[in-house]
Amino acid sequence: MKKYTNISDIKNFSEAIQEAIQLKKNPLEFSALGKHKTLGLLFFNSSLRTRLSTQKAALNLGMNPIVMNVSGDAWGIEFEDGSIMNGNTAEHIKEAAAVISQYCDIIAVRAFPTLTDKVKDESEHILKSFTKYATVPIVNMESATAHPLQGFTDAITITEHKKVSKPKVVLSWAPHVKALPHAVANSFAQAMQNMDVDFVITHPKDYDLNPEIVGNTPIIYNQEEALKNADFVYTKNWSSYNNYGKVLKTDSDWMITKEKLGNAKFMHCLPVRRNVVVEDAVLDSENSLVIRQANNRTYAAQWVLKNILEDL
Ligand code: CP
Repeated sequence: MKKYTNISDIKNFSEAIQEAIQLKKNPLEFSALGKHKTLGLLFFNSSLRTRLSTQKAALNLGMNPIVMNVSGDAWGIEFEDGSIMNGNTAEHIKEAAAVISQYCDIIAVRAFPTLTDKVKDESEHILKSFTKYATVPIVNMESATAHPLQGFTDAITITEHKKVSKPKVVLSWAPHVKALPHAVANSFAQAMQNMDVDFVITHPKDYDLNPEIVGNTPIIYNQEEALKNADFVYTKNWSSYNNYGKVLKTDSDWMITKEKLGNAKFMHCLPVRRNVVVEDAVLDSENSLVIRQANNRTYAAQWVLKNILEDL
């Protein structure tokens, strides 16, 4: 594997899921593979799970992870080609990516969208600039439009916990006080489209995701109807895509409750706002998979790093 920036970089999805489940059973089996190799983790935004699980995955493979909070600790990076750098940015991505490539064998990047400039966000200018100017493989730790480590994790979790061969999986929008990105929902949809599941998306009108990502997946605007007979309910807020980055609705009628969930398993990428997105009674119940889901972040990242290391 030469890079991991999108779910589509995994060529055989079901085989990858099974391999990740095997890695989980014996996480140190390939602990010599990454010896003397360095993983650089660059964070333009906050993180708990991605930051720790990706380092843990690297350590399990014998790699040395090094971490930088780019926004706080590095020089301001310029991404525009040909710009006159007399403002706040002090070095260009051309130099920054080339220099980091000399210290690291793989570079992982987290860079969220602006949610104000749709064209810029959709161009994935930060992630793609790293891909263009770095000379080593790039891993996406959540970019403007995709969170493929999370999507792969979610597919592993559903495979582990499904009780029927083709479970019904519902991606449900939920309210939130802040404008949030589309990346988790996008990558979850792409992951489910690669699995043998009965997948539907439910959200209020005006919260349609990018139609290129939704494809043929059914959209049901009535949440109660969508949740009927669900085996897995994956809940996530996202801001409006058409009215880009706007929060159009914050009232609690789309919050996931124990009553709405029924016997389905509850999933969320975390962090989650209790009693805004989902009520306590769900998160504190046996039907919540969120902690086990977060654990799988390590093995999803480990599968990705292992496959890149094997191709270096
Ligand atoms: N789910 C997820 O990516 O969590 P963090 O933002 O804490 O890394």
